[in-house]
Amino acid sequence: MKLAFHNTIDHIEKHIPKNSGIFAIIDSNVTDYFCDKKEWHFIEIQATEQKKTLHTAEAIWSELLEMKADKDCFILGIGGGVTTDIAGFVASTYKRGVRFGLIPTTLLGCSDAAIGGKNGINLEYIKNAVGTINQPVFTYISTVFFGSLTLKVFKEGIVEILKTFLIYNQSYYKSAIEFFSTYNYINHSKRQEQTLRNIVRTCAQIKFKVTAKDEKDIGQRRLLNLGHTFAHALESHFIRNKKKLLHGQAVAYGINAAAQVSCKLRLCNSNLPRRIVSDFEKIGIPCSCGVAAREVLDTMFSDKKAFKEHINLVLIKDIEQVCIKTVSAHQLKKICSAITL
Ligand SMILES: NC(=O)c1ccc[n+]([C@@H]2O[C@H](COP(=O)([O-])OP(=O)(O)OC[C@H]3O[C@@H](n4cnc5c(N)ncnc54)[C@H](O)[C@@H]3O)[C@@H](O)[C@H]2O)c1
Repeated sequence: MKLAFHNTIDHIEKHIPKNSGIFAIIDSNVTDYFCDKKEWHFIEIQATEQKKTLHTAEAIWSELLEMKADKDCFILGIGGGVTTDIAGFVASTYKRGVRFGLIPTTLLGCSDAAIGGKNGINLEYIKNAVGTINQPVFTYISTVFFGSLTLKVFKEGIVEILKTFLIYNQSYYKSAIEFFSTYNYINHSKRQEQTLRNIVRTCAQIKFKVTAKDEKDIGQRRLLNLGHTFAHALESHFIRNKKKLLHGQAVAYGINAAAQVSCKLRLCNSNLPRRIVSDFEKIGIPCSCGVAAREVLDTMFSDKKAFKEHINLVLIKDIEQVCIKTVSAHQLKKICSAITL
């Protein structure tokens, strides 16, 4: 698998194996970028968490069959994380697996979701309950798509970037907070654009390196789940209640919750959650949605990372000092009675 960084979309074909039929599973909000690709076959999807389902995957498998996509075809997943997760899953299972490449079009996709080979769908309100770990041939990363994102979607990407830097690099974390607190993603200078590219590249490369060493998510890769146990439980809670919650936003709530739990377990003092909340708020990212943590506890214990009466949580002692702790259901319930997500 390779990461390909480009400033335009002119270099995609050179990464695709020659003489393969190209089938693009594409987010309906980004089709305009690809209207000159007359020789590609397009399957458009609406990218929402509610549509990240087996039903959507089945509809795509059927379209691929109808379009006579054979074992040698090449699938492209083009869009945000919802689309690249579904496309990776469809490609990994269609005809027992065909080659695929990913073209993420959101900040979150470029810096996180389209890297590392995890793909999948939600099942019965449980986030990413079914999927595979299977690497794309390439992930094509370009900031060229960001101009059409809404500010809300752009900001969820910032959250995943901050998460990665919180875990791995204190000085990148500080610089990113400084940069994003003044960055206007629509109206910015060439220099700022270059800085954004560098941040995306650095973050993507960190994720690439970590996931290459622990592809199956049994060791250090699990640290990248900082904030995700709470985030996934909240997202499931929102899907169940037919309410919208963007993944990156959920991760911000989850990171705050993880920092609060860390504090209650005396892994850090109360300055750390306060600092994280204040840093995120400088960028206009809220860290609380007002849901009592105890309301999502049941979902957490049915999460795929939970075992029996215990749960493995990614907790934080300080910036660049993140660890995994096994916490009992009893202990977590007690702690969560005083935490709001
Ligand atoms: N596989 C992984 O390792 C991994 C990691 C993190 C997140 N994820 C998954 O990623 C998903 C979230 O991804 P996301 O934040 O990219 O959101 P998304 O895919 O839901 O996209 C958000 C919105 O932006 C739109 N959009 C996408 N690109 C656009 C563009 N360039 N211009 C205008 N609109 C555009 C989409 O149509 C959608 O409405 C979640 O399902 C999450 O579980 C996966």
